[in-house]
Amino acid sequence: MTSKRRFFVTTALPYANGPFHIGHIMEYIQADTWVRFQRMQGHEVHFVGADDAHGAPIMIAADKAGKTPQQFVADIAAGRAQYLDGFHIRFDNWHNTDAPENHQLAQDIYRALRKNGLIAMRDIEQFFDPVKGMFLPDRYIKGQCPKCGAADQYGDACEVCGAVYAPTELKHPYSTLSGATPELRKSEHYFFQLSSDRCADYLRDWTQAANAHGQPHLQTEVLNKVREWFTTDENGHGGLADWDISRDAPYFGIEIPDAPGKYFYVWLDAPIGYLASLKNHFDKGQAAQHWHAPSRTAQSFDAFVADPSVEQVHFIGKDIVYFHTLFWPAMLHFSGRKTPSQINVHGFVTFGGEKMSKSRGTGISPLKYLDIGLNPEWLRYYLAAKLTARVEDVDFTPEDFVARVNSDLIGKYVNIASRAAKFISQYFDGKLGYAHNTGDLRDAAQALADDVAAAFEAREYARALREIMAYADRINTAFDAAQPWILAKDEARRAELQDACSQALAGFWLLSVMLSPVLPVLTARVARELFGLERDFVWSDATELPQHAAPYQHLMHRIDPRRLDALFETDPPAAPVVAKPTAKPAAQAMTPAAPTADATQDPFITIDDFAKIDLRIARIAHAEAVQGSTKLLRLTLDVGETTPDGQPRTRNVFSGISSAYKPEDLIGKLTVVVANLAPRKMKFGLSEGMVLAASAADEKAQPGLYILEPHTGAQPGMRVR
Ligand code: MSP
Ligand code: ZN
Repeated sequence: MTSKRRFFVTTALPYANGPFHIGHIMEYIQADTWVRFQRMQGHEVHFVGADDAHGAPIMIAADKAGKTPQQFVADIAAGRAQYLDGFHIRFDNWHNTDAPENHQLAQDIYRALRKNGLIAMRDIEQFFDPVKGMFLPDRYIKGQCPKCGAADQYGDACEVCGAVYAPTELKHPYSTLSGATPELRKSEHYFFQLSSDRCADYLRDWTQAANAHGQPHLQTEVLNKVREWFTTDENGHGGLADWDISRDAPYFGIEIPDAPGKYFYVWLDAPIGYLASLKNHFDKGQAAQHWHAPSRTAQSFDAFVADPSVEQVHFIGKDIVYFHTLFWPAMLHFSGRKTPSQINVHGFVTFGGEKMSKSRGTGISPLKYLDIGLNPEWLRYYLAAKLTARVEDVDFTPEDFVARVNSDLIGKYVNIASRAAKFISQYFDGKLGYAHNTGDLRDAAQALADDVAAAFEAREYARALREIMAYADRINTAFDAAQPWILAKDEARRAELQDACSQALAGFWLLSVMLSPVLPVLTARVARELFGLERDFVWSDATELPQHAAPYQHLMHRIDPRRLDALFETDPPAAPVVAKPTAKPAAQAMTPAAPTADATQDPFITIDDFAKIDLRIARIAHAEAVQGSTKLLRLTLDVGETTPDGQPRTRNVFSGISSAYKPEDLIGKLTVVVANLAPRKMKFGLSEGMVLAASAADEKAQPGLYILEPHTGAQPGMRVR
């Protein structure tokens, strides 16, 4: 057994401006799986998260909601537990970056950096929105990327080429709050001197170095990206730039010491929130130790974070690499603190290869997943089966999800127990017995468990699960070859029967041990209910052989693919974008990058904007229910179009109106369709347009859907304008 390791593990701190989306949940499942694996090894892990409370978007969103930013953030925080508990994500602590610990730590770190001569002040010209009368936060300025020329990029970083820059470097800037062209005004700002030789030299070394345990700080592909950020071109341009860490009031953030009216930019105090949450966790632990648990060792936060043997591991997504591989280690190192051991970067969840977007109906809502009663461990299993240590996107497709869960998880794993335990209860009173040399079984188990452990350790979950399922295949094959159902008919062959079933159940035991990081609840039941263990599995159980098995109790059922429909339907697909100008897009925005941009846009569109929407009269040639969907009707629409060879052409459109209309009542009716909406691939086929329908702003309080019908005389294909 390796010596006991001590870990401090975090996931990125989510902006506190909205509920979790499936991307957050994936990150937490990745980290939670790793943490559970480390704990099963007997290591000490402190796994913490927090809400990222500060910044202009949250301040503006709170204002719109008529709340103080503190109240706004607290309300979001109150909704976190149902997601975390729901998916069995077990943080030791959840805190927020506006907490006193973070104010203190951020100011301490800043003072240390200042003392170390790495803070500079200079006047900068900053964009000011003349209509709104305020300096514009980066995120509210858009324009063309100065590096790659991509249009509509935010003021701090380019989502196309990854470049980081000042908003004033953007070409053709505009304010997303008012649409106005911003004016340059002077203001004094504070900078962290990342471009200094001291910093650049340190970071060049750190990013390439290995940690005290011999693992590289960064994945290879992350390091390659970071190297680009160090590189200067032949004109000496590029390379690391000083980092603007101050923002002018009004701002929701932490005051900069000795600088009235100045606040830390949210990204300065956000990663410090990792430390704040850990400190809060330790302080609570000490309190608990004092009052309730005198046997627990009290740990001092300061001693723990300074201890070189403690491994500090951050799980983050690919969009926030710059902050975690450059700013964060530099801030820590030059304030005299210990730097991270590993920055583990993952890709994004995509849906059918597309970025998730609620408005386009791609992506799944984690709460809806739980609400409709889907098993959270199915999702944990599915994501783990696709996660590797590389920075690659993880694509979710319903077919693949159903197949992996039904054929691997149920078909290969769960079934072993149900098939073998039956005979053990019936003929052997629950007693297992092995005919073979059990030493060989243990050696084989050890070898497999070592391989799988190495895969979990390296975050190669897909590989771990491949090895696990290959082993499940071997067990099933051996069990089938022994033909226990034939052995059972012959009293003289009881020993053979017992051996075959015991081997299968020993295999099931080993599989359950190795699946525990991914399926904590299911395997806890296996340990207790089937094998009578009075605790969860630990990794060293892998080489144990079970001696008893209780009668099989149902463990997990298959996914009924029809139950997934509700997960993917948009609400409703006929969402009347045009007819409902008061809809609140911000509440639905799924892009964390621009949380409130839509909500703060100009309330008017121009006639040219309107003209982009090709509204047409359509005749409903046919309508029918959609098998497997309670919301959708399949409409065949005549929009007055013909194929290239002159044949009448109809369109297929799915519309979420089945609660309000019977198909037969619609056939022959005229209505209005958005004809130039990009075709959308849905579970049931391609939808080539959208039928407009009216509904109340609050559809829950006042249900009812009303499609539009033109006055007599309108013909299919006529333009509506
Ligand atoms: N508040 C910052 C992080 C501060 S860390 C000191 C932030 N918040 S976020 O809510 O936008 O993102 C939180 C995490 O979710 C990030 O690691 C981000 O990469 C991850 N994801 C956001 N969308 C995602 C997917 N579609 N898929 C997987 N992870 C995604 O950034
Ligand atoms: Zn760019």
